[in-house]
Amino acid sequence: MTRPAFARWLSQTNEVTKTFLAAGQVPDLINLAGGLPEPSVWPVDELAEIAASAVRDHPGQSLAYPPIGGLPALRSLIARKYSSDALPLTRDNVLITSGGMQALDLIGRVLLEQGSPVAAQSPAYLGALDAWRPSLPTYLPMDLEGGDFDPLPAISGAQFAYTVPNFSNPTGHIVDTAMRRRLVEAAEQTGTWLVEDDPYGALYYDCDPLPSMMSMAGSGNAYDGPVIYLGSLSKEVVPGLRIGWAIAAPEMIDALTVAKQGTDMCTSGLSQRIAYETFHSGLADRILPNILATYRARRDALCAAMTAELSDLFTWEVPAGGMFVWARARDPRIDTDDLLQAGIERGVCVSPSSVFDPLGQDHGAIRINFTLNPPERLAEGVRRLRATVTDLLAKAA
Ligand SMILES: Cc1ncc(COP(=O)(O)O)c(C=O)c1O
Repeated sequence: MTRPAFARWLSQTNEVTKTFLAAGQVPDLINLAGGLPEPSVWPVDELAEIAASAVRDHPGQSLAYPPIGGLPALRSLIARKYSSDALPLTRDNVLITSGGMQALDLIGRVLLEQGSPVAAQSPAYLGALDAWRPSLPTYLPMDLEGGDFDPLPAISGAQFAYTVPNFSNPTGHIVDTAMRRRLVEAAEQTGTWLVEDDPYGALYYDCDPLPSMMSMAGSGNAYDGPVIYLGSLSKEVVPGLRIGWAIAAPEMIDALTVAKQGTDMCTSGLSQRIAYETFHSGLADRILPNILATYRARRDALCAAMTAELSDLFTWEVPAGGMFVWARARDPRIDTDDLLQAGIERGVCVSPSSVFDPLGQDHGAIRINFTLNPPERLAEGVRRLRATVTDLLAKAA
């Protein structure tokens, strides 16, 4: 008996990803690899009350099939949250999704054919690369931190350009205001869609937020610009409700809605009702200062430990927000795929750069998460990392 072959794209996933996703199961492992929030910052009691009231008082919204595009009240609330005089949004600009991850998947479904060109900020979010893998896109990497980078040639001809301008996953870096403007102008000139994926936009620790590219594309009229903005409840409230939103020109929202119909038909009404109340009651605003203080202290603890232990081995920048530090090995003999394997044996797990490179070629950097572990564990993780790198270098000598 011969079974039909699996689709071709399945053979393009890599072992490294499977290894670091499985590493969470190893006892006493310090997981610096994931992008996970700290559970103690979640407003568990308040959410429990909101959830009970959602079921009891709003069963029609919470327990029935909601509309494909999302509960109208939540769509309108999200539209108001991002509206300004220059950017008047309505619920027709908003699609509620099952996490930001679903929005990435839907964008691929409506814009990509096999091998389509995609301009991507590089390194890029692994989940986005995973979402679009079934289409095996052709990536045109964009170095948005190179001050003289001109996005115009990269994005003309691409089906869309993908960016995470606030504290990118994996680098934790920001795209500056001038480059944001250049990207928007290039998108307006070429007609290419510009995806602004922004799950970390609320997590600024040291300075005021930079303007979003969507706001730069506002003209004072009903929004019809090239920027597709993606938001998420995951990092600023909780990930488990799986609530995200796409804000875009109505024609894009309509296309994404058709794709969503054939994917999950609708996002959980209970989750949407809880998300609505979390914003409407002010709970999301109330919990943010504690989240920022907790993560800022952890960022500082990680960077202090890295300065003490890793300065001779890696270079990095202290990120002004988000969840990650991106560190590049000084010694080219360090292959960070090997560091992943060897680190797991020593009880520490970091993400290697190869999985974030759309072309899979960068083996010299690591992504370190600082939100999940308390300061002492971060320091111990960094000590284990130093021991692992020292071992690898001794073997390479
Ligand atoms: C850049 C980026 N986009 C999207 C997501 C998806 O988040 P969620 O599906 O939980 O909203 C993440 C999660 O880590 C991310 O880092």
